[in-house]
Amino acid sequence: MKALITSGGRGTRLRPLTHTQNKHLISIANKPILHYAIEYCADAGIKEIGIVHSADSNAIPKAIGNGSKWGVQITYIPQEAPLGLAHVVKISQDFIGDEPFVFYLGDNMVVGGLKRFIEAFESNKSNCHLTLAKVKDPERFGVPEIAGSRIVGIEEKPSKPKSNFAVSGIYLYDKTIFEAVNNIKPSARGELEISDAHQYLLDKGYKVTFSEITGWWKDTGKPYDLLEANRLILDNMSGSNEGGIDEKSIVTGKLKLGKGSKIINSNVRGPVIIGKNTVIENSYIGPFTSIYDDCHIKNSEVEFSILLEKCKIIDVHIRIEHSLLGSDVEIVKAEGKPATHRFLIGDQSRVELL
Ligand code: DAU
Repeated sequence: MKALITSGGRGTRLRPLTHTQNKHLISIANKPILHYAIEYCADAGIKEIGIVHSADSNAIPKAIGNGSKWGVQITYIPQEAPLGLAHVVKISQDFIGDEPFVFYLGDNMVVGGLKRFIEAFESNKSNCHLTLAKVKDPERFGVPEIAGSRIVGIEEKPSKPKSNFAVSGIYLYDKTIFEAVNNIKPSARGELEISDAHQYLLDKGYKVTFSEITGWWKDTGKPYDLLEANRLILDNMSGSNEGGIDEKSIVTGKLKLGKGSKIINSNVRGPVIIGKNTVIENSYIGPFTSIYDDCHIKNSEVEFSILLEKCKIIDVHIRIEHSLLGSDVEIVKAEGKPATHRFLIGDQSRVELL
Protein backbone atom coordinates (compact mmCIF):
# COMPACT_ATOMS: atom_id res chain seq x y z
CA MET A 1 0.00 0.00 0.00
CA LYS A 2 1.19 3.53 -0.87
CA ALA A 3 0.18 6.89 0.61
CA LEU A 4 -0.64 10.18 -1.03
CA ILE A 5 -0.42 13.27 1.18
CA THR A 6 -1.56 16.79 0.27
CA SER A 7 0.46 19.89 1.08
CA GLY A 8 -0.77 22.37 -1.50
CA GLY A 9 -3.82 24.62 -1.38
CA ARG A 10 -3.84 28.31 -0.47
CA GLY A 11 -4.10 28.28 3.34
CA THR A 12 -6.16 31.49 3.17
CA ARG A 13 -7.99 30.81 6.44
CA LEU A 14 -4.67 30.79 8.32
CA ARG A 15 -3.45 34.19 7.15
CA PRO A 16 -1.28 36.04 8.10
CA LEU A 17 0.76 32.97 9.19
CA THR A 18 0.51 31.56 5.68
CA HIS A 19 1.77 34.75 3.98
CA THR A 20 5.31 33.65 4.73
CA GLN A 21 4.96 29.93 5.34
CA ASN A 22 3.10 26.95 3.90
CA LYS A 23 0.41 26.00 6.44
CA HIS A 24 1.63 22.38 6.55
CA LEU A 25 4.96 23.61 7.93
CA ILE A 26 3.42 25.50 10.86
CA SER A 27 4.37 23.74 14.08
CA ILE A 28 1.91 22.25 16.51
CA ALA A 29 3.56 21.18 19.77
CA ASN A 30 6.83 22.27 18.14
CA LYS A 31 6.54 19.89 15.17
CA PRO A 32 5.40 20.80 11.62
CA ILE A 33 1.86 19.61 10.90
CA LEU A 34 3.09 17.62 7.88
CA HIS A 35 5.47 15.55 10.04
CA TYR A 36 2.46 14.09 11.85
CA ALA A 37 0.96 12.90 8.56
CA ILE A 38 4.24 11.27 7.46
CA GLU A 39 4.66 9.63 10.87
CA TYR A 40 1.13 8.19 10.80
CA CYS A 41 1.83 6.65 7.37
CA ALA A 42 5.25 5.31 8.40
CA ASP A 43 3.75 3.83 11.61
CA ALA A 44 1.18 2.02 9.48
CA GLY A 45 4.06 0.30 7.62
CA ILE A 46 3.75 2.37 4.42
CA LYS A 47 7.10 2.78 2.65
CA GLU A 48 6.25 4.83 -0.46
CA ILE A 49 4.67 8.24 0.00
CA GLY A 50 3.73 10.78 -2.66
CA ILE A 51 3.43 14.38 -1.47
CA VAL A 52 1.48 16.77 -3.68
CA HIS A 53 2.70 20.36 -3.33
CA SER A 54 2.16 23.70 -5.10
CA ALA A 55 4.27 23.79 -8.25
CA ASP A 56 5.18 27.44 -7.60
CA SER A 57 7.15 26.69 -4.41
CA ASN A 58 9.90 24.32 -3.43
CA ALA A 59 9.34 24.92 0.31
CA ILE A 60 7.85 21.50 1.05
CA PRO A 61 10.49 19.31 -0.68
CA LYS A 62 13.20 21.51 0.89
CA ALA A 63 11.80 21.20 4.41
CA ILE A 64 10.80 17.51 4.28
CA GLY A 65 13.52 15.88 2.18
CA ASN A 66 13.57 12.34 0.80
CA GLY A 67 11.86 10.66 3.75
CA SER A 68 14.88 8.68 5.03
CA LYS A 69 14.36 10.32 8.44
CA TRP A 70 11.12 8.31 8.73
CA GLY A 71 12.36 5.20 6.86
CA VAL A 72 10.14 5.98 3.86
CA GLN A 73 10.69 7.07 0.28
CA ILE A 74 9.03 10.34 -0.67
CA THR A 75 8.15 11.31 -4.25
CA TYR A 76 7.07 14.92 -4.86
CA ILE A 77 4.18 15.59 -7.22
CA PRO A 78 3.80 19.28 -8.19
CA GLN A 79 0.25 20.64 -8.67
CA GLU A 80 0.01 23.66 -11.02
CA ALA A 81 -2.88 25.25 -9.11
CA PRO A 82 -5.20 24.17 -6.25
CA LEU A 83 -7.81 22.70 -8.57
CA GLY A 84 -9.38 20.41 -5.97
CA LEU A 85 -8.72 17.22 -4.02
CA ALA A 86 -9.97 15.00 -6.84
CA HIS A 87 -7.49 16.83 -9.08
CA VAL A 88 -4.73 15.92 -6.59
CA VAL A 89 -5.69 12.24 -6.97
CA LYS A 90 -5.94 12.57 -10.75
CA ILE A 91 -2.40 13.94 -11.20
CA SER A 92 -1.02 11.20 -8.93
CA GLN A 93 -2.21 8.24 -11.00
CA ASP A 94 1.27 7.50 -12.42
CA PHE A 95 2.77 7.46 -8.92
CA ILE A 96 0.04 5.22 -7.46
CA GLY A 97 -0.35 2.82 -10.41
CA ASP A 98 -2.80 -0.01 -9.66
CA GLU A 99 -2.04 -0.25 -5.93
CA PRO A 100 -4.50 0.51 -3.13
CA PHE A 101 -3.54 3.67 -1.26
CA VAL A 102 -4.24 5.96 1.67
CA PHE A 103 -5.15 9.49 0.65
CA TYR A 104 -4.25 11.70 3.58
CA LEU A 105 -4.97 15.44 3.75
CA GLY A 106 -1.77 16.87 5.16
CA ASP A 107 -3.59 19.36 7.41
CA ASN A 108 -5.50 16.64 9.29
CA MET A 109 -4.42 15.13 12.59
CA VAL A 110 -5.78 11.99 14.17
CA VAL A 111 -4.87 10.16 17.34
CA GLY A 112 -4.51 6.40 17.16
CA GLY A 113 -2.95 6.21 13.70
CA LEU A 114 -4.12 4.66 10.45
CA LYS A 115 -3.73 0.89 10.92
CA ARG A 116 -7.32 0.32 12.09
CA PHE A 117 -8.69 2.05 8.99
CA ILE A 118 -6.41 0.10 6.63
CA GLU A 119 -7.56 -3.14 8.27
CA ALA A 120 -11.23 -2.20 7.87
CA PHE A 121 -10.67 -1.30 4.18
CA GLU A 122 -8.91 -4.59 3.52
CA SER A 123 -11.29 -6.86 5.46
CA ASN A 124 -14.38 -5.24 3.85
CA LYS A 125 -12.74 -5.58 0.40
CA SER A 126 -13.97 -2.02 -0.24
CA ASN A 127 -13.33 0.12 -3.28
CA CYS A 128 -13.34 3.14 -1.00
CA HIS A 129 -13.25 3.36 2.78
CA LEU A 130 -14.06 6.71 4.42
CA THR A 131 -13.45 7.85 7.98
CA LEU A 132 -16.20 9.84 9.64
CA ALA A 133 -16.09 12.05 12.71
CA LYS A 134 -19.02 13.60 14.57
CA VAL A 135 -18.76 17.40 14.46
CA LYS A 136 -20.76 20.43 15.59
CA ASP A 137 -20.34 22.25 12.27
CA PRO A 138 -20.77 19.68 9.45
CA GLU A 139 -21.43 22.45 6.91
CA ARG A 140 -17.62 23.08 6.88
CA PHE A 141 -16.94 19.57 5.53
CA GLY A 142 -17.93 16.78 3.17
CA VAL A 143 -21.06 15.31 4.79
CA PRO A 144 -22.44 11.78 4.31
CA GLU A 145 -26.07 10.80 4.27
CA ILE A 146 -26.36 7.53 6.14
CA ALA A 147 -29.23 5.02 5.91
CA GLY A 148 -28.91 2.10 8.33
CA SER A 149 -25.24 1.15 8.18
CA ARG A 150 -24.65 2.43 4.64
CA ILE A 151 -23.54 5.71 3.14
CA VAL A 152 -26.11 6.60 0.48
CA GLY A 153 -24.92 10.07 -0.50
CA ILE A 154 -22.15 12.64 0.05
CA GLU A 155 -22.30 16.41 -0.31
CA GLU A 156 -19.46 18.93 -0.09
CA LYS A 157 -20.04 21.75 2.43
CA PRO A 158 -23.86 21.52 2.28
CA SER A 159 -25.92 24.39 3.71
CA LYS A 160 -28.35 21.77 5.10
CA PRO A 161 -26.21 18.81 6.21
CA LYS A 162 -27.93 15.41 6.13
CA SER A 163 -25.99 14.12 9.15
CA ASN A 164 -23.76 15.48 11.90
CA PHE A 165 -20.73 13.62 10.52
CA ALA A 166 -17.78 15.09 8.66
CA VAL A 167 -15.89 12.98 6.15
CA SER A 168 -12.41 13.36 7.58
CA GLY A 169 -9.28 13.77 5.46
CA ILE A 170 -8.19 10.12 5.64
CA TYR A 171 -9.45 8.03 2.73
CA LEU A 172 -8.58 4.53 1.49
CA TYR A 173 -9.00 3.69 -2.16
CA ASP A 174 -8.39 1.02 -4.73
CA LYS A 175 -7.85 1.95 -8.38
CA THR A 176 -11.58 2.61 -9.06
CA ILE A 177 -11.08 6.11 -7.61
CA PHE A 178 -9.22 7.00 -10.84
CA GLU A 179 -12.33 6.14 -12.88
CA ALA A 180 -14.23 8.55 -10.60
CA VAL A 181 -11.76 11.48 -10.71
CA ASN A 182 -11.46 11.13 -14.49
CA ASN A 183 -15.23 11.34 -15.00
CA ILE A 184 -16.45 14.10 -12.67
CA LYS A 185 -16.70 17.78 -13.67
CA PRO A 186 -15.49 20.86 -11.72
CA SER A 187 -17.93 22.21 -9.12
CA ALA A 188 -19.42 25.72 -9.04
CA ARG A 189 -16.24 26.96 -7.25
CA GLY A 190 -14.14 25.52 -10.07
CA GLU A 191 -12.62 22.57 -8.15
CA LEU A 192 -12.72 18.84 -8.81
CA GLU A 193 -14.35 17.89 -5.49
CA ILE A 194 -13.41 14.68 -3.71
CA SER A 195 -17.02 14.45 -2.45
CA ASP A 196 -18.21 14.34 -6.09
CA ALA A 197 -15.77 11.48 -6.73
CA HIS A 198 -17.24 9.63 -3.75
CA GLN A 199 -20.77 10.29 -5.01
CA TYR A 200 -19.70 8.90 -8.41
CA LEU A 201 -18.52 5.66 -6.74
CA LEU A 202 -21.86 5.38 -4.90
CA ASP A 203 -23.85 6.05 -8.09
CA LYS A 204 -21.92 3.34 -9.95
CA GLY A 205 -22.56 0.81 -7.19
CA TYR A 206 -18.96 0.51 -6.01
CA LYS A 207 -18.41 -0.57 -2.43
CA VAL A 208 -18.03 2.49 -0.17
CA THR A 209 -17.63 1.65 3.52
CA PHE A 210 -16.68 3.70 6.54
CA SER A 211 -15.21 3.71 10.06
CA GLU A 212 -16.14 6.20 12.73
CA ILE A 213 -13.24 8.02 14.37
CA THR A 214 -14.03 7.71 18.04
CA GLY A 215 -10.87 9.33 19.46
CA TRP A 216 -10.05 12.78 18.21
CA TRP A 217 -9.53 14.15 14.75
CA LYS A 218 -8.77 17.73 13.72
CA ASP A 219 -8.77 19.55 10.44
CA THR A 220 -6.35 22.40 11.12
CA GLY A 221 -8.00 24.74 8.64
CA LYS A 222 -8.67 27.69 10.97
CA PRO A 223 -6.57 29.40 13.69
CA TYR A 224 -8.61 28.04 16.60
CA ASP A 225 -8.22 24.50 15.16
CA LEU A 226 -4.45 24.86 15.55
CA LEU A 227 -4.79 25.76 19.23
CA GLU A 228 -7.18 22.89 19.78
CA ALA A 229 -4.89 20.37 18.00
CA ASN A 230 -2.00 21.75 20.08
CA ARG A 231 -4.03 21.16 23.25
CA LEU A 232 -4.79 17.57 22.26
CA ILE A 233 -1.18 16.73 21.35
CA LEU A 234 0.17 18.28 24.57
CA ASP A 235 -2.44 16.39 26.59
CA ASN A 236 -0.95 13.12 25.28
CA MET A 237 2.71 14.19 25.53
CA SER A 238 5.18 12.95 28.14
CA GLY A 239 7.51 15.33 29.94
CA SER A 240 11.34 15.55 29.72
CA ASN A 241 14.03 18.03 30.64
CA GLU A 242 17.14 18.72 28.57
CA GLY A 243 17.42 22.32 29.75
CA GLY A 244 17.79 24.08 33.07
CA ILE A 245 15.24 25.05 35.72
CA ASP A 246 16.46 27.18 38.61
CA GLU A 247 15.43 26.50 42.21
CA LYS A 248 13.18 29.56 42.38
CA SER A 249 10.92 28.24 39.60
CA ILE A 250 7.83 26.11 40.18
CA VAL A 251 6.89 23.54 37.55
CA THR A 252 3.66 21.56 37.87
CA GLY A 253 2.24 19.09 35.34
CA LYS A 254 4.09 17.87 32.24
CA LEU A 255 6.87 20.00 30.79
CA LYS A 256 9.07 19.10 27.81
CA LEU A 257 12.05 21.43 27.90
CA GLY A 258 14.57 21.47 25.05
CA LYS A 259 18.37 21.74 25.03
CA GLY A 260 19.86 25.07 26.05
CA SER A 261 16.54 26.44 27.34
CA LYS A 262 16.29 28.03 30.78
CA ILE A 263 13.45 28.64 33.19
CA ILE A 264 14.36 31.31 35.72
CA ASN A 265 12.21 32.43 38.67
CA SER A 266 9.06 31.42 36.81
CA ASN A 267 5.89 29.40 37.26
CA VAL A 268 5.17 26.80 34.55
CA ARG A 269 1.92 24.89 34.69
CA GLY A 270 1.90 22.02 32.16
CA PRO A 271 1.30 20.54 29.78
CA VAL A 272 3.80 22.87 28.15
CA ILE A 273 6.47 22.28 25.50
CA ILE A 274 9.46 24.60 25.13
CA GLY A 275 11.97 24.18 22.31
CA LYS A 276 15.70 24.84 22.25
CA ASN A 277 17.58 27.92 23.49
CA THR A 278 14.49 29.65 24.83
CA VAL A 279 14.57 31.70 28.02
CA ILE A 280 11.61 32.13 30.37
CA GLU A 281 12.31 34.69 33.09
CA ASN A 282 10.09 36.00 35.93
CA SER A 283 7.05 34.77 34.00
CA TYR A 284 4.04 32.49 34.12
CA ILE A 285 3.47 29.89 31.37
CA GLY A 286 0.07 28.24 31.61
CA PRO A 287 -1.36 24.94 30.33
CA PHE A 288 -1.48 23.97 26.64
CA THR A 289 1.26 26.31 25.51
CA SER A 290 3.90 25.50 22.88
CA ILE A 291 6.92 27.80 22.71
CA TYR A 292 9.40 27.08 19.95
CA ASP A 293 13.19 27.62 19.71
CA ASP A 294 15.07 30.86 20.48
CA CYS A 295 12.18 32.66 22.21
CA HIS A 296 12.47 35.03 25.16
CA ILE A 297 9.67 35.62 27.66
CA LYS A 298 10.36 38.02 30.50
CA ASN A 299 8.05 39.54 33.14
CA SER A 300 5.01 38.27 31.23
CA GLU A 301 2.21 35.66 31.29
CA VAL A 302 1.28 33.28 28.45
CA GLU A 303 -1.32 30.51 28.42
CA PHE A 304 -3.09 28.27 25.84
CA SER A 305 -1.00 29.64 22.98
CA ILE A 306 1.43 28.72 20.22
CA LEU A 307 4.60 30.77 19.76
CA LEU A 308 6.80 29.98 16.77
CA GLU A 309 10.56 30.57 16.74
CA LYS A 310 12.34 33.74 17.91
CA CYS A 311 9.33 35.36 19.58
CA LYS A 312 9.90 37.94 22.31
CA ILE A 313 7.36 38.83 24.98
CA ILE A 314 8.93 41.29 27.36
CA ASP A 315 7.34 43.25 30.25
CA VAL A 316 3.77 42.72 29.06
CA HIS A 317 1.47 43.09 32.02
CA ILE A 318 -1.64 41.51 30.59
CA ARG A 319 -1.94 37.73 30.19
CA ILE A 320 -1.56 36.57 26.59
CA GLU A 321 -4.05 33.75 26.00
CA HIS A 322 -5.66 31.91 23.04
CA SER A 323 -2.93 33.38 20.82
CA LEU A 324 -0.91 32.31 17.81
CA LEU A 325 2.35 34.15 17.23
CA GLY A 326 4.29 33.56 14.02
CA SER A 327 8.10 33.59 13.80
CA ASP A 328 10.09 36.56 15.09
CA VAL A 329 7.09 38.33 16.63
CA GLU A 330 7.76 40.85 19.39
CA ILE A 331 5.28 42.02 22.01
CA VAL A 332 7.02 44.45 24.33
CA LYS A 333 6.22 47.27 26.73
CA ALA A 334 5.85 50.69 25.09
CA GLU A 335 8.33 53.23 26.50
CA GLY A 336 7.86 57.00 26.83
CA LYS A 337 4.91 59.38 26.83
CA PRO A 338 2.09 59.49 25.92
CA ALA A 339 1.24 56.01 27.26
CA THR A 340 -0.25 54.39 24.16
CA HIS A 341 -0.48 51.02 22.45
CA ARG A 342 1.72 51.01 19.35
CA PHE A 343 1.37 48.50 16.56
CA LEU A 344 3.53 47.43 13.64
CA ILE A 345 1.44 44.66 12.16
CA GLY A 346 1.58 42.86 8.81
CA ASP A 347 -1.31 42.30 6.41
CA GLN A 348 -4.36 40.42 7.70
CA SER A 349 -3.15 40.24 11.31
CA ARG A 350 -5.64 40.39 14.15
CA VAL A 351 -5.24 42.01 17.57
CA GLU A 352 -7.89 41.82 20.29
CA LEU A 353 -7.68 44.43 23.07
CA LEU A 354 -9.63 44.85 26.29
O1 DAU B 1 -10.64 17.95 6.41
C1 DAU B 1 -11.69 17.22 5.84
C2 DAU B 1 -12.32 17.96 4.67
O2 DAU B 1 -11.26 18.24 3.72
C3 DAU B 1 -13.41 17.12 4.01
O3 DAU B 1 -14.50 16.97 4.89
C4 DAU B 1 -13.89 17.78 2.72
O4 DAU B 1 -14.81 16.94 2.07
C5 DAU B 1 -12.71 18.03 1.80
O5 DAU B 1 -13.12 18.71 0.62
C6 DAU B 1 -11.66 18.85 2.50
O6 DAU B 1 -12.21 20.15 2.74
P1 DAU B 1 -11.30 21.43 3.07
O7 DAU B 1 -12.05 22.66 2.75
O8 DAU B 1 -10.80 21.31 4.47
O9 DAU B 1 -10.10 21.25 2.05
P2 DAU B 1 -8.87 22.21 1.85
O10 DAU B 1 -9.10 23.08 0.67
O11 DAU B 1 -8.52 22.87 3.16
O12 DAU B 1 -7.69 21.19 1.48
C7 DAU B 1 -7.37 20.10 2.28
C8 DAU B 1 -5.92 19.72 2.05
O13 DAU B 1 -5.58 19.53 0.68
C9 DAU B 1 -4.89 20.72 2.53
O14 DAU B 1 -3.75 19.94 2.91
C10 DAU B 1 -4.58 21.56 1.29
C11 DAU B 1 -4.60 20.49 0.23
N1 DAU B 1 -4.98 20.84 -1.16
C12 DAU B 1 -6.24 21.34 -1.38
C13 DAU B 1 -6.65 21.59 -2.66
C14 DAU B 1 -8.06 22.12 -2.93
C15 DAU B 1 -4.10 20.59 -2.21
O15 DAU B 1 -2.95 20.11 -1.98
N2 DAU B 1 -4.52 20.86 -3.47
C16 DAU B 1 -5.77 21.35 -3.76
O16 DAU B 1 -6.09 21.55 -4.96
